[in-house]
Amino acid sequence: MSAEWYLRCIGCGSTFREEPEDFRCPKCDDLLELEKEGLPELRELYASGGKGIWRFSCALPLKEIFSVSLEEGNTPLVKSSNIGEQKIDLHFKVEGSNPTGSFKDRGMTVAISHAISRGARVALCASTGNTSSSLAAYSARAGISSFVIVPENAVSPAKLVQAHLYGASIFKVKGNFDSALKKARSLALSHGAYLVNSINPYRIEGQKTVSYEIYEQLGMRMPDYVFLPVGNAGNISAVFKGFSELVRMGAREELPKIVGVQAEGAGPIAEAFSKNRQTIKPVKNPKTIASAIRIGNPVSWKKCIRAVRESKGTVISVTDEEILASRDELARKEGILVETASAASLAGLRKMISRIPAGSSVVCILTGTGLKDASETASRVVMHDISELRKLLIL
Ligand SMILES: Cc1ncc(COP(=O)(O)O)c(C=O)c1O
Ligand SMILES: [Zn+2]
Repeated sequence: MSAEWYLRCIGCGSTFREEPEDFRCPKCDDLLELEKEGLPELRELYASGGKGIWRFSCALPLKEIFSVSLEEGNTPLVKSSNIGEQKIDLHFKVEGSNPTGSFKDRGMTVAISHAISRGARVALCASTGNTSSSLAAYSARAGISSFVIVPENAVSPAKLVQAHLYGASIFKVKGNFDSALKKARSLALSHGAYLVNSINPYRIEGQKTVSYEIYEQLGMRMPDYVFLPVGNAGNISAVFKGFSELVRMGAREELPKIVGVQAEGAGPIAEAFSKNRQTIKPVKNPKTIASAIRIGNPVSWKKCIRAVRESKGTVISVTDEEILASRDELARKEGILVETASAASLAGLRKMISRIPAGSSVVCILTGTGLKDASETASRVVMHDISELRKLLIL
């Protein structure tokens, strides 16, 4: 870790210059966050140069020259043209345009670069799919082995194909993502493998760059609201970190209200919010069609609650039907194909729309591409006989 960087525990507040092997606080076992003494000024942040997220190196814990990169980041911020929310100014941040098709690449480039700097030869993760393909791609590029642990029968086949083609070894566990993560953490500790789940604070550092980009793409303005799907809650913590750092670097506006959206059958944080509770009750058997956010015991829930409280946002839940309707609407009205979990952002906005003041600037983060979910929809595709085309053309 370079001299200006240190780790701080989100539970007891202790700070550390040395990195614990498993990224947990040695005093209280809570999560650690990376912090930099003296962030750059806004002008410096945007003037640095470099490729992908590495152009923000002055606010990242590693230097670009040591990076393992596929030029991730710089994803489009597309203005909505046809989704009928005329009263607001709506944009979509299309994270599916990242090299392996999801926002995970932003964090993975930093985590794998860090793994290499520590001399790691093996990287390991538990995954609902996207982390595994991202880990596999960056490990391939770095020339190290990648091992991924997934819940049996619960990950989209396309994501597994992707990880396989990048050369990962894939292991299955009975149960859900939470069991896979438990296994990954204990194996990482006992065998010294480099763990890249979002408890790894280097991932969060990469993922925070999405907020830097949104601010710039809106013409150096904060949006009023940001909606995003929440599973393990690493990404919402990262998005909040990015926006809060912009304020510390000199952005004068208020933080955007960050709204986390969970699926109803996997929504322990939303439930805690709706009942005004300070802690979550894990969901034993999480259920939702949106497999990427099918997580019952989100590790970063405390960070998520802080992100939402400090930004005056909230966490809500939506039904699978609402998620699917938003996914179809994004494809058919905007030409943006997202994976099912990603559509939770728009479904959440739909649910909250009556509470959003007219004229608000709203960004829905669309976390991953829909092509990876395609196999689940293949049976619904209708192939017409060519003879029917003439009739349709006349209509
Ligand atoms: C497409 C997609 N969206 C959202 C999420 C949720 O992110 P987090 O677990 O950081 O809350 C994931 C996590 O796997 C994902 O793959
Ligand atoms: Zn602690």
